[in-house]
Amino acid sequence: MDTEKRRVQVVTYGCQMNDHDSDRMVELLEPLGFVGTDDKLSADVIILNTCSVREKADQKLFSELGRLREWRAADPDRILAVGGCVAQGMGNDLLDRCRHLDLVFGTDQLAQLPDMVTRISAHRLRVAATEWRNADEFDFLPIRPQRRMEGTHAYVKIMKGCNKFCTYCIVPYVKGRELFRPAQEIIDEVRMLVENHGICEITLLGQTVTSYNLKNRQPGEPRFAELLLRVAEIEGLHRLRFMTGYPRDVHEDLLEAFRIQPVIQPHIHMPVQSGSDRILKLMNRGYTRAQYTEKMAALRAARPGLSLTSDIIVGFPGETEAEFLETISILEEIRYDSVYSFAYSERPGTRATSFEGSLPEPERRRRLVHLNGVQDAITTSLLAECIGKTSEVLVLGPSARDPLVLRGRTPEHRLVNFIGTAEVGELVQVSIDGAGRHTLKGAQIMIHAA
Ligand code: SAH
Ligand code: SF4
Ligand code: F3S
Repeated sequence: MDTEKRRVQVVTYGCQMNDHDSDRMVELLEPLGFVGTDDKLSADVIILNTCSVREKADQKLFSELGRLREWRAADPDRILAVGGCVAQGMGNDLLDRCRHLDLVFGTDQLAQLPDMVTRISAHRLRVAATEWRNADEFDFLPIRPQRRMEGTHAYVKIMKGCNKFCTYCIVPYVKGRELFRPAQEIIDEVRMLVENHGICEITLLGQTVTSYNLKNRQPGEPRFAELLLRVAEIEGLHRLRFMTGYPRDVHEDLLEAFRIQPVIQPHIHMPVQSGSDRILKLMNRGYTRAQYTEKMAALRAARPGLSLTSDIIVGFPGETEAEFLETISILEEIRYDSVYSFAYSERPGTRATSFEGSLPEPERRRRLVHLNGVQDAITTSLLAECIGKTSEVLVLGPSARDPLVLRGRTPEHRLVNFIGTAEVGELVQVSIDGAGRHTLKGAQIMIHAA
């Protein structure tokens, strides 16, 4: 590797939006002579890309910063930076509260990063972003640089922010109001990724992508389902996914897109959060349990075999045991492939912090453990049902444990380890002959010339 280069480590917390932003941070610093690294000790710059959705995010950040004090002190030219949602929430105060921190910047100031790093390197200043407002235009970052990307999958952001104001959630406060990226920019970026970077699978990204242009639509801009159909037509794109879906926004046009366009893959991350109508109402989710299950049934009718994944919160203020069991029963009714489960945690500034009936932490944890046990059994039995079937698998590379075994994904987003000879990015047929707790096993079906 080039020893002249300076190294930047971006440590990512939180959601795919942050993953995506972290990649962009590295890309933005490349023209300054940086390369990305995973090794803290060899890094010249460390950026913590933070998340504030979970409990005690601020304290966790300060303890992480404490652990980096020595690293920072070892070399005066090093730069320690904090970005992401905690930075957005705390702003310039962070610099006052942590003396060995060099740089803080908000979630919409990525484009300023190269300039800020240059100024610090030149003058040893401590720099805060000059602008903390949430952007009110989708002033999109420079499109990705022309370098080979790793793998065959890429995320493409189609919106930022969120307008839903679920009562437990901090995201609308840190990320601001929803803003939709113009469709042509999205299409251009997907086309560029497919044509120049060997990408054949794209996930369109945003907090509630199905809300894309549903309200306040600019003239000529498509709604989400039409956007999907337009992106799906890009030549060379084999698989199209999106996340996160918002249940209330599922309409006939989305069902139709699933019916007619096979490039749209049979998997949706569509968080339900709770199985109880009373809790859903308190959460301000905007749907009842019955409305949710009807929409999921309609989606599965439009695309047989559709797999669903979800986010769940247990221990919401006032959640009774019976209401918790309604959440358990919706898991059993829908049979999600997997769920991200969370014990409710108070986020300062959100409405739910003032709700009555706060549950003790041990009770929240007990519910979480119970729920995870139920879900694990569902995941295991869904995977076991795949045994004996054949599945189209997109090859990701060698498997983690054994370089002779390949790893890939089914259309339903299930991971498969399989014996085969295919190249990364190839689509192959795999016969599934085993299932673990989270992955499938199989063997590539070889097609022999007659
Ligand atoms: N926009 C997505 C989710 C974004 S946050 C959606 O609406 O589904 C990711 C997940 O974190 C949420 O789905 C929720 O399950 C969880 N979460 C958010 N705030 C939380 C809180 N205060 N306590 C516990 N979990 C929370
Ligand atoms: Fe948070 Fe609700 Fe918006 Fe998702 S939809 S980001 S949970 S406010
Ligand atoms: Fe966390 Fe910010 Fe994502 S709060 S979940 S990183 S939008």
